[in-house]
Amino acid sequence: MARILITGGAGFIGSHIADAHLARGDQVLIVDDLSHGRAENVPAGAEFMELDIRDQAVADLVVDWRPDLISHHAAQMDVRLSVSDPRFDASVNIDGLLNVLEAARRVGIERFIYVSSGGVVYGEPEVRPTPETAAKLPESPYGVTKLAGEQYLYYYHRVHGLDYAALRYSNVYGPRQDPHGEAGVVAIFSNRLLANSPVTIFGDGKQTRDYVYIGDVVAANLHVASADLPAARSLDDRAFNVGTGVETSVNELAEGLIRASGRTVSVEYAEARAGELRHSSLDTTRLQSLGWTPAVKMDEGLTETYRWIAREANIE
Ligand SMILES: NC(=O)c1ccc[n+]([C@@H]2O[C@H](COP(=O)([O-])OP(=O)(O)OC[C@H]3O[C@@H](n4cnc5c(N)ncnc54)[C@H](O)[C@@H]3O)[C@@H](O)[C@H]2O)c1
Repeated sequence: MARILITGGAGFIGSHIADAHLARGDQVLIVDDLSHGRAENVPAGAEFMELDIRDQAVADLVVDWRPDLISHHAAQMDVRLSVSDPRFDASVNIDGLLNVLEAARRVGIERFIYVSSGGVVYGEPEVRPTPETAAKLPESPYGVTKLAGEQYLYYYHRVHGLDYAALRYSNVYGPRQDPHGEAGVVAIFSNRLLANSPVTIFGDGKQTRDYVYIGDVVAANLHVASADLPAARSLDDRAFNVGTGVETSVNELAEGLIRASGRTVSVEYAEARAGELRHSSLDTTRLQSLGWTPAVKMDEGLTETYRWIAREANIE
């Protein structure tokens, strides 16, 4: 049994990771300020502290509770907000991270899992599926802070010997997701379908993303928590893309969800939104060579997600 501290564990991804660790018999402590997460997501078997990761109390908690592993999922993750208020973005994603990280260094934890984003750190990549070694040219303050977090981890590893892995997620979807995440379109389309309203696609719908199901993301986290990781001689040695390598267009996604819902609604097109990446998919060869593989097919994952959103809305 290990002691796992999960920041952001009341959120979409962190709460699923908490469930998985509890199911393995680990002890779980969740730190979340509920700015975006929900108290209902906190599993019954977990301890919960409603705290902001920038708060000194979180550093004290790390020192007192002495986790074996910290899974750092708390973040400011709204790209648009990062553009309008880059200082707030940095205060959570950099200052908040450093508050947790400094405490982790002081107590000497076994491993730190840091969550980055493969959808933003590469910018508009030249090669797809994009490998970890591709140029990192983020196009938003959120992308900059996610990448800077990786660089801090690498520094703590090199100078203080702190063991870590950085997971670069693609677009994660599944039960408990909401319309604001990087795969928010799945929730937005589902809600439209449940209301029997037309689905609106911005642009021609041919823009693509790499949608990865939450179950596969949880499996990647469990894997990386205990795997033998390669020596870190550069930033990318401890960075692992988590995705499927499959590009799905927004048109295909809408078709898939319409199939999953069994409903008939029309698809409408509106003017493309400025500043969106055109295409994105991640090469996951490195994580696969450690024994992880994405297992959930898109149709299966969309059906699970749609059913969960329908249940939440009390519509079957
Ligand atoms: N959802 C995706 O597709 C995706 C893709 C790439 C990376 N990520 C990363 O994964 C992580 C989890 O994302 P998610 O989709 O579960 O989002 P989420 O908003 O559901 O979860 C984030 C959690 O962090 C909490 N939080 C935010 N600021 C905090 C603070 N200052 N102190 C304490 N808690 C705070 C929120 O209340 C929330 O519960 C984030 O780091 C995000 O950047 C997500």
